[in-house]
Amino acid sequence: MLLDFSSLSKFRAEISALGDSLFHGETSLFIEDIINKKNHYKVFAAFRDEKVAGFLILSTVLDESEILEVAVSENFRRCGLGSELMSEIFGWCAKNEISKIFLEVRESNFPARTYYKKFGFVENGLRKNYYRGPVENAVLMSKELS
Ligand SMILES: CC(C)(COP(=O)(O)OP(=O)(O)OC[C@H]1O[C@@H](n2cnc3c(N)ncnc32)[C@H](O)[C@@H]1OP(=O)(O)O)[C@@H](O)C(=O)NCCC(=O)NCCS
Repeated sequence: MLLDFSSLSKFRAEISALGDSLFHGETSLFIEDIINKKNHYKVFAAFRDEKVAGFLILSTVLDESEILEVAVSENFRRCGLGSELMSEIFGWCAKNEISKIFLEVRESNFPARTYYKKFGFVENGLRKNYYRGPVENAVLMSKELS
């Protein structure tokens, strides 16, 4: 589900706990900025047993969106939660007349690259040594929406 302001405040700690270990602490910074109205990112969450088991952060400028982060708790991977989150953003993008979604992913992250490809994203660029800790290329992917 797309979290409104009060749900985001309620689940902030759970989302940050899941994301910060994977994304070097960036998740809590994104959420802090949303709460302080410094950006308009959308946060989608998937729940199991009333706890956050996955989330996706989407940034939108005009008619283009970018997936900033997506993560599913290790215990729940390969159970369809990532697919649920992707379906939700496709629905949101359709309603909001978004024409393209893009993202960057570590070159070695084959599970994520396979996941994105399954949902119609195509690889169309490489940013050399884009990531730190460890240094690694970023693969650029995008999907045109009709
Ligand atoms: C990428 C991620 C969000 C996928 O979430 P998930 O809930 O496991 O995804 P789903 O169960 O819905 O799987 C959807 C599809 O993704 C692909 N996929 C997911 N995990 C995969 C893996 N380990 N190996 C290969 N393909 C994989 C498959 O195509 C899968 O479809 P299938 O099960 O019919 O084969 C999850 O692996 C994750 O949180 N990874 C760590 C964080 C991360 O790397 N985020 C992306 C940063 S850019």
